[in-house]
Amino acid sequence: MEGMIILNQATILIVDDEINTLKVLSAILSKKGYEVITSHSAEDALSKLNNANVDTIIVDYKLPNMSGIDFVEIVKRDASSPPIIMLTAFGSIEKAVEAMKKGAFNYLTKPVNKDELLTVIREALDKQRLIQENKALKSIIRERHSFQNIIGKSRVMQDLFNMIAVVSKSNSNVLITGESGTGKELVAKAIHYESSRADKPFIPIDCATLPAELIESELFGHEKGSFTGAYDKKIGQIELADGGTVFLDEISELPLPLQKKFLRFLQEKEIMRVGGSKRINVDVRVVSATNRDLQEEVNKGNFREDLFYRLNVVTLRIPPLRDRKEDIPLLVEHFLNKFNKVNNKHISSIDTDVMQALMQYNWKGNVRELENTIERAVVLCPSDTITLRYLPSGIRDMVSDTQQATYGLNLLHTEKMLIVKALEQSSYNQTKAAEILGISRKQLRTKMKHHGLLSSSEDTLE
Ligand SMILES: Nc1ncnc2c1ncn2[C@@H]1O[C@H](COP(=O)(O)OP(=O)(O)OP(=O)(O)O)[C@@H](O)[C@H]1O
Ligand SMILES: [Mg+2]
Repeated sequence: MEGMIILNQATILIVDDEINTLKVLSAILSKKGYEVITSHSAEDALSKLNNANVDTIIVDYKLPNMSGIDFVEIVKRDASSPPIIMLTAFGSIEKAVEAMKKGAFNYLTKPVNKDELLTVIREALDKQRLIQENKALKSIIRERHSFQNIIGKSRVMQDLFNMIAVVSKSNSNVLITGESGTGKELVAKAIHYESSRADKPFIPIDCATLPAELIESELFGHEKGSFTGAYDKKIGQIELADGGTVFLDEISELPLPLQKKFLRFLQEKEIMRVGGSKRINVDVRVVSATNRDLQEEVNKGNFREDLFYRLNVVTLRIPPLRDRKEDIPLLVEHFLNKFNKVNNKHISSIDTDVMQALMQYNWKGNVRELENTIERAVVLCPSDTITLRYLPSGIRDMVSDTQQATYGLNLLHTEKMLIVKALEQSSYNQTKAAEILGISRKQLRTKMKHHGLLSSSEDTLE
């Protein structure tokens, strides 16, 4: 496997007071070419950490003076500290979870399974390398406002571009999180096309739209006659993606029994078709996405914790559009160009109040909603400038009514809007509103009546 040589030179620190565990783990890891340092106590380990270049730490939950959890907490105060793998007794999953909450990278239960140990170590080292590379890259990459087809100039998007560049060079499984329409699929594609797998297939699988009973054969394929209706052999998507990338969208929707099968595939890198008995080796990188809080699904028992940690070696979070509004003007320009081309139009500008409305709107549907909004405006707008009337009313309303009213240059309408605004500003206190408007309360009430702003019950109150 490529990259193996570099990974094998990594240094691993093992901390446990049980001599036997130290011996067994050291033997396995040294045999694989890793440099191993051992410690019998947390205190000793902390001083060794200061004096040696350690790439990953394995620490037992139970130590003489200081618990493994406290150890994690201390080590993790330094943001650039290496990943920590916690050893726990069989069946004490709460301890493992507690450790992960404090910042541990993963856990292993005793007695440690050799293959599992090696996989987790590889993942930890992979992550450590990504962190180091990202640190180095951040300082050299100049600011770019697009990456593949992804547009963005905000700090968070710049960081995301860096992470994509780094992650693409590895084979780590990546979990992409973000609200609907934030660009998760776009990021998944960017990872694939930036990687050495670019000329192999990118296969998206939507776990939410596939019927549960079909997902298994869709993913893994089936043999002829394996179930009623399986008239022919079918090659599954994972097998089809060999050498490339599988994008598992809405991963939280993967049914529990399939989660187990999928986990086995991730661990062993081989599949078995439904109804088949042959093990088939498959080399795919798995990128998954969710708009849910997957950790919470784990807590609720809807998602396997072990699968969660396997999929989640690297997490890329895409923030909602409302938290990076500085990206909006660039995105608008991008979509204007796109839909001009598609519709053979030549719209060259948008009014300032249109931009103002776009900047103020909350964008619950994120970039997808913005894209649809611009498409609609381009299609509807007959001139070369998009004006407010071509925005959907919910977005148009972001610009204050008084501002909109001046467009009609209708004096009466403007007066009404100013009164409404003053009332809103004074929390409907008429005396205060009158003060704001520079008229008497009585004048205000007359005007309110004229504009139909007084309810009949209020009318008789005076
Ligand atoms: N940063 C961006 N730059 C350019 N286009 C973007 C960006 N983010 C999203 N888009 C566009 O917005 C639309 C939605 O993106 P995408 O399908 O990747 O979102 P998603 O997060 O997968 O949404 P969902 O959760 O609904 O599946 C696509 O047409 C995509 O091209
Ligand atoms: Mg999507």
